[in-house]
Amino acid sequence: MRRPVRIAITGAAGAISNSLLFQLADGSMMGDDQPVILQLIEMPERMEALRGLAMELEDCAFPLLHTITLHDNVEEGFNNAHYAILIGARPRGPGMERRDLLEVNAEIFTRQGKALNDHANRDVKVLVVGNPANTNALIASRNAPRLSPSQFTALTRLDHNRAKGILANHTGANPQDIDGIIVWGNHSTTQFPDLHHARVLGEPVLNQIDDGWYKNEFIPRVQTRGGQIIQARGVSSAASAAQAVIHHMRDWVLGTPSGQVVSMGIVSDGSYGITKGIFYSFPVRCNYGRYQIVRGLQLNDFSLQMMKTTETELLEEKAAVEHLLPAETAASHENLSICLRSGVTLYADGTGPESASKYLTTNRVM
Ligand code: LMR
Repeated sequence: MRRPVRIAITGAAGAISNSLLFQLADGSMMGDDQPVILQLIEMPERMEALRGLAMELEDCAFPLLHTITLHDNVEEGFNNAHYAILIGARPRGPGMERRDLLEVNAEIFTRQGKALNDHANRDVKVLVVGNPANTNALIASRNAPRLSPSQFTALTRLDHNRAKGILANHTGANPQDIDGIIVWGNHSTTQFPDLHHARVLGEPVLNQIDDGWYKNEFIPRVQTRGGQIIQARGVSSAASAAQAVIHHMRDWVLGTPSGQVVSMGIVSDGSYGITKGIFYSFPVRCNYGRYQIVRGLQLNDFSLQMMKTTETELLEEKAAVEHLLPAETAASHENLSICLRSGVTLYADGTGPESASKYLTTNRVM
């Protein structure tokens, strides 16, 4: 049996976590031979609700659930964590745009970035779920100078899954027979759900669907799905978000199935002309605990325009929180390079191993 891994979760008594924790404790995320220690974090006034949830987890008698610890602060809750899933954030209500959340949530993620830097395991893998997820990931990462930006990711798998589900429904295909979907950019209404590389049972999707449906119905439906769910339920998506967290972390840690491409919000290394240093959703493959951007895709003018629009929104979000981004981490976020063979992270700001390293270096984000 493997040694247990420590997984810290903020917003642990909330609706997403309520769905997530039971799947996680049952092995769906880390594999069915990986014991887990859950370090659950909530606001002080929610600790009683969290205690109730912990009792329920205990009552499931999950063989893989090694230990549960409860914390009312992130500094303690992130201690030695190998994985951190940052769900807790001020949620969006009806009529609110995600950008309204920027200012309120920015402070939360500044503190969390610092706490990860000071208390988590040096190899911690971080997934930001709380909105605005991409920019929250940027804030947390920029406030964690001892960690590599490649250790931080933002959840766009929910959008990726939505695109796949809606396309499956429209074409009558089984979701498992669809591949090559890409979500570019921000987890917001500007995101670009791209079907140009998607296939159903190996056949290009765009040969099988009407271009008008793709551009006028499919794209806006995926882009606004989160808002539609809030309108209908009165609260944000929960179970589908939890499922997306499971998919994202499982693929990152255990690898994407052979040939499969998924979407992850990661720090841009300049691929496809996207400004370096922002957290942007790219097509990636994962292996051995790392992600790698899929290279060399042909992009038409329509796609480039859509990708630009969502990039512009992320740059505006970044400008709005610039005062929370320490200058000391600017260079590492804009000049990320990774040693492919050793796994050592090299920074152009000189904080990595010497430039005379015998290892191959590339500018790929992994
Ligand atoms: C979602 O996409 O369902 C969530 O991010 C909710 C939101 O605020 O958009």
